[in-house]
Amino acid sequence: MWDVLKDRREALEGKDILSLFDRADRAAAYSVETDGVLLDYSKTLIDDAACSALVDLARSSGVEERRAAMFAGKPINETEGRAVLHTALRNPDGPAIEVEGEDIMSGVRDTLARMRSLAEEVRSGRFEGAGGTIEDVVNIGIGGSHLGPEMGTRALGPYHDGPRCHFVSNVDGADIHDTLSGLDPARTLVIVASKTFTTIETMTNARTAHDWMAKAVAEPGAQFVALSSATEKAAEFGIAPERVFAFGDWVGGRYSMWGPIGLALMIAIGPDDFDDFLRGGAAMDAHFRAAPLAGNMPVMLALTGIWHHQVCGYPTRAVLPYDQRLARLPAYLQQLEMESNGKRVTMTGAPLSTQSGPVVWGAPGTNGQHAFYQLIHQGTQIVPCEFMVAARGHEPDLAHHHALLAANCLAQSEALMRGRGLDAARALMAQAGHEGEERERQARHRVFPGNRPSTTLIYDLLTPFRLGQIVALYEHRVFVEGVILGINSFDQWGVELGKELAGTMADVLSGDAPLDAKDGSTRQLVTFVQSQRGR
Ligand code: F6P
Repeated sequence: MWDVLKDRREALEGKDILSLFDRADRAAAYSVETDGVLLDYSKTLIDDAACSALVDLARSSGVEERRAAMFAGKPINETEGRAVLHTALRNPDGPAIEVEGEDIMSGVRDTLARMRSLAEEVRSGRFEGAGGTIEDVVNIGIGGSHLGPEMGTRALGPYHDGPRCHFVSNVDGADIHDTLSGLDPARTLVIVASKTFTTIETMTNARTAHDWMAKAVAEPGAQFVALSSATEKAAEFGIAPERVFAFGDWVGGRYSMWGPIGLALMIAIGPDDFDDFLRGGAAMDAHFRAAPLAGNMPVMLALTGIWHHQVCGYPTRAVLPYDQRLARLPAYLQQLEMESNGKRVTMTGAPLSTQSGPVVWGAPGTNGQHAFYQLIHQGTQIVPCEFMVAARGHEPDLAHHHALLAANCLAQSEALMRGRGLDAARALMAQAGHEGEERERQARHRVFPGNRPSTTLIYDLLTPFRLGQIVALYEHRVFVEGVILGINSFDQWGVELGKELAGTMADVLSGDAPLDAKDGSTRQLVTFVQSQRGR
């Protein structure tokens, strides 16, 4: 199947994406719409033969079987022997699902009800700190215990009517210092979000926050909440069971914002809007499960990614939301995609025969246009772009801003595809008064090769429901790509080595462990740090 795709790619060499629009219905044929969200992948060099080969690849890789196994709670995270059921968190009224012989759904419903009750108490002022109603919530977590609630809270700013929410992740003391300074400990709620409750960054920050609160509050533990699978560790930290919200090991960190890890978001926007966010995710699940592969949004987004990275060899992809409130979405998707599919062996342990997942990066438009789009338009690397934009904004008084924002988004995808040829550039330079060799030289700088692929995700307004759809869309995209590559998208062994070495390096830096075994570069850096600390 890969050979068929590579052959098709070669056959398309030299063909313009624009020419594919000679077929009048290309835009509609290369789009998927579900529940008010439209994905247009027509501005790519995928033609009918490539498209059907891609769909065949998905089918022959077992995407449908694997999808059924995931939703049924089979242990598809094979290296950890775990089910993958974040989808259950967003479908609390769904049918029973058994994991190791026990139905997990009643636990999902109970936890959601407890989260709702705490969120309502905090928001209404019934839950008080030592100094009165809670004015600030500080979520301490990292990776999947940070990026989701942080991204979601920012994305849904127009719905934020609860206390202020802050997010601390980095072990750099600057992060917690700058966050806590200015807050009143007597009116702050601290959420310690850690699936394992052992992550060094989170536990260090949690202890610092506890010390900070203990200076002003007689019972600091009463203003702490834990979101964790390790309930006994949360208890050891001094957090009472009624403020511990657990979730099963069938929820991966980077897939966890739908459950307890989403508590800060729920406190910010309120339980009803949080329910809408869950409903959006569940709507995308329903579409993903039911739609035929060729009309399935996550499948077609995944196949576009496979085409660009594994078939065409483009090393990265850019996520470009034309929505300032989605500023943290590229970082969120970096973890989701790169921690899930950045693997070098297949499920069986054999080396991958293709590239693993691509580098994912991005920033909101229009800001990126004035920073890195130069390379996207005229650099020698091709960067497939994933645009997203709402048809309207949340600020009716500023509709002219949104009109400009949307126009820029649509203009960029068109410009990337069309480009500007040498003749057009020459004509421009002639108009500007250049002649002869100077006209030629100036014109060459103004050529845009075009034929650069992009997809666009478009929707009416960024509501909680829409955000749920978008996050679930990308989760399933990652899943489909992982199945096609034969990867386990749900473990993350690659982060372990750095964690282990950092532990021993702390002893080396403090002089408690010997330096001799280290390489020359590391010895030099350690010596530099030690000498500066001595000052
Ligand atoms: O970076 C590794 C990782 O395990 C992520 O997968 C996870 O989201 C993050 O660390 C935080 O882990 P925890 O929630 O256990 O603190």
